[in-house]
Amino acid sequence: MSIQKKVKNRHTLHSGIFNPTLRKWQSLQSEIAPDNLMYPIFIVEDDEAVQPIASMPGVSRYGVNKLKNHLGPLVEKGLSSVLLFGVVESLPKDDTGSHADSPQNPVIRALPKLLSWFPSLTIACDVCLCPYTSHGHCGILFPDGSINNTKSIKRIAEIAAAYAKAGAHIVAPSDMMDGRIGAIKDKLAECQLRHKTAVLSYTAKFASGFYGPFRDAAKSKPAFGDRKCYQLPPGSSGIALRAAARDVAEGADMLMVKPVLSYMDVLRDVKRAYPEFPMFVYQVSGEYAMIYHAAKAGALDFKTALSEILVSLRRAGADVIISYYTPVVLDWLQTKSKL
Ligand code: PBG
Repeated sequence: MSIQKKVKNRHTLHSGIFNPTLRKWQSLQSEIAPDNLMYPIFIVEDDEAVQPIASMPGVSRYGVNKLKNHLGPLVEKGLSSVLLFGVVESLPKDDTGSHADSPQNPVIRALPKLLSWFPSLTIACDVCLCPYTSHGHCGILFPDGSINNTKSIKRIAEIAAAYAKAGAHIVAPSDMMDGRIGAIKDKLAECQLRHKTAVLSYTAKFASGFYGPFRDAAKSKPAFGDRKCYQLPPGSSGIALRAAARDVAEGADMLMVKPVLSYMDVLRDVKRAYPEFPMFVYQVSGEYAMIYHAAKAGALDFKTALSEILVSLRRAGADVIISYYTPVVLDWLQTKSKL
């Protein structure tokens, strides 16, 4: 027998995966634990409301008082972080998003309660203008409708500082304006909050068709035009890496790719370029709805498919997955059969 033949024979893959422990050893880096999950939540003005969201079956908007009962059992099951989005209905929207950081803002009002009910919970706040502006764009506009970047990042930094002052542990700007991470870092320093508030950058946020259900949920559709001038073009990976380099240089604590299923190459590239930064991915509303409807139609088995997707995100380099499915996954993690 030639040496070559012998070597070839040694490469039996089945010998590495014939029992559950062996299989786990092949995939330890892809395991899912509660700390790998962040749960996005929509908070409305009416403290007692629970409003199911038609475009995201199984997800609701909550008034803060209803969150006590909703989040309590999840924290018991190991939920360690949430991402808060404010949704306004009766507060007026204007050109500068005045209610993004007013005392009536639902997130600002909810923070002290959530912090006192759940002292172990790490709370991140999405920072953006689109849910609060009359035009529905993520920045301040010039009269011709284009983005005034200078004014936008000043305003975004003010809003981030307001959430930080109200107790947010993490501020997460999703606006995609140029230079916002640096502006937020400077503002936090000015407010003596530099060491108390982390900045999670929506680093590579693509102009995606998968945000549709969210814009319903957050009532944040642009009144005209689209977001292609500030969110990244789906075909480009170079600009995502440049965005990551910029955010890192400006002092981001954590990086994110969003959406993720169609951008796994970007996830891997950014994680490989910056392995020393915790890497977040956002499984967005359209990805949530896609899995839900495919399972409901019987096209795929829900648990098998969702587990496979989550594990593959970890395999591709995600440390933390922001997912509306977090409650379901925490349930699964209660049983011994880990994902
Ligand atoms: C706000 C924001 C969006 C999402 C998170 N923050 C929508 C958008 O940019 O249009 C999308 C999240 C999701 O689809 O689940 N700028």
